Order: sequence, then C-alpha cells, then structure tokens
Amino acid sequence: MIRKCLFPVAGYGTRFLPATKSMPKEMLPVVNKPLVQYGVEEAIEAGLDEIGFVTGRGKRAIADHFDVSYELEHQIAGTSKEEYLSSIRNVMAKGSFSFTRQPSMAGLGDAILQGRRLIGDEPFGVVLSDDLCVTEDGDGVLSQMVRLYKQFRCSIVAVQEVPEEDIHKFGVIAGEQIKTGLYQVNDMVEKPEAKDAPSNLAIIGRYILTPDIFTIIENTPPGKNNEVQLTDALLSQAKDGCVLAYKFKGKRFDCGSVSGFVDATNYVYENLYGK
Ligand code: UTP
Repeated sequence: MIRKCLFPVAGYGTRFLPATKSMPKEMLPVVNKPLVQYGVEEAIEAGLDEIGFVTGRGKRAIADHFDVSYELEHQIAGTSKEEYLSSIRNVMAKGSFSFTRQPSMAGLGDAILQGRRLIGDEPFGVVLSDDLCVTEDGDGVLSQMVRLYKQFRCSIVAVQEVPEEDIHKFGVIAGEQIKTGLYQVNDMVEKPEAKDAPSNLAIIGRYILTPDIFTIIENTPPGKNNEVQLTDALLSQAKDGCVLAYKFKGKRFDCGSVSGFVDATNYVYENLYGK
C-alpha cells in the first residue's frame, strides 16, 4: 500500500568536513556499508521498494552505488571476493531507484517538495539516512510505522526522548497520548531552546507522509534559518487534520555528527557485522 520512499540527500554534511568535501556524507561507511544502504535496506524491508533520491551537485557516488559496476564485477566474478557484493546486489534486485535534484539547499521541506514528481499522489516514506536506526529483533522502524499507517491513515513522525541538553538540535512535538508510545500531535517546534520546548520528544529522520503535504509545503514560508521547514508544514497538517508521533522501538544513531557516527560504528561492529 505504501510503495515509495524518498531519501533527501542534498545536504552538504559540513559537520563531517573535510571527509565530505568531495564525497557525499551518505556514502560514509559504517563498518563496511555506506550509511545510505542501511536506510534503503530498512525501506525495502518495510515494503517500500520504489526509492527516490533528492540529490544535489557532487552526489553522483550515490547513484553509482545503486548501479552495476561492470569492470569491478567482471574482475571478481567467480572468485571468493564476489560475496562481498551480495548485500548491495540483493538491494538492487529488490528495489528501483530514481533521482531528482534540489537546485539549492533551501531546507528539508523544500527537498521533499522537489521529490513530488517521483512520488505523485500517494502516501510515502521519508528516510534521512544520516539517522541510522537498528532494532534487536530486526523489525525495522519504517516497518513499525507502516503497520501504524495501515491502522490510522495519516502522517506519522518517529520520535524519541532526548536529554535536555540535546533538545535544541531537533524538531520537538507536543501531543496527546492516544495509546502507549503514540501521540496525536498538537504542537511542533523546530530546534527550540530547552526552556521553550513543548516536551522532550524529538523528531528523528523517519516519516510517513500523506501526499497533501506537498501543497502544504508549497504554502509554507521559510522558517528557522530561512529554510522551508518540514516541521512547519507538519504543524499545519496536524492543525487541520491529524499527524501522529510514534515512539519507535529500537536505537538511533545520529551519524551526521562525529560522535554519533563513532557510536554507530562500534555498535554495528560488535552486534551486527558478519551476522
Ligand atoms: P542536516 O542539516 O542534518 O544535513 O539535514 P546536512 O546539512 O547535510 O549536515 P550538516 O549540518 O551540514 O553537517 C538533514 C537531512 O536533510 C537533507 C540532508 O541531506 C540530510 O539528510 N537536506 C537538508 C536536504 O536534502 N536538503 C536541504 O535543503 C536540507
């Protein structure tokens, strides 16, 4: 029922300079797999196998990663090294990959609007692949959210509780708990100071959006940092209809920051690599 997933990957990744000067941050490897591949695997597991990327200049490596590399594959065909390609071949066999560009970094809301033609008039997932999400039982965060969508049929944002000193880095929600871990959103603030935050429930990089969000974004003026904020559009959607916030089961690593990236690397190496 939800088939498509958008990956906004146009950001500059300035927190990872100089590594990201000529390489997209989404291609940084957590152990032996680029960040973006973890996100795509999570989407495909949830049944979202039509993958759309909103890219920018300097991001060609992402398109190449999801395409065949003839010379390399010819070279290692039939050798013991071929198995190293199995995870990406599996992803390529299951998914389709489309690309569009965001001409200028005008904010996450704008990036999603640029993806409109890839999505059309249907509900879709959004993954910010610098948030790496892992679960112990293999039930991915997007899979959890797709099940909720089937029940409630409205936009859903994934949230987690964050300590006070980190609140200013996130969009934060306020809402009415309708069942354990599920809130009907009635307020949202982008990157508030801790004292102004409506709660400690921070939005992380997983969303299910209904397609009316595109028109709402078109009518959303630039907000914080003069960028078109998805949070502002979601607040309009929440006020006129329904947006749910879901406290997901699992762990999330902020791989857009150096410390989160190192934590993710250690976790994946110790718990997931080679299993
Ligand atoms: P971030 O602000 O975390 O990513 O945006 P960034 O700008 O790449 O990183 P820093 O802060 O400079 O280190 C969250 C996500 O939204 C995408 C980014 O690619 C990232 O995945 N994004 C953000 C866009 O695609 N376009 C935008 O205009 C803004």
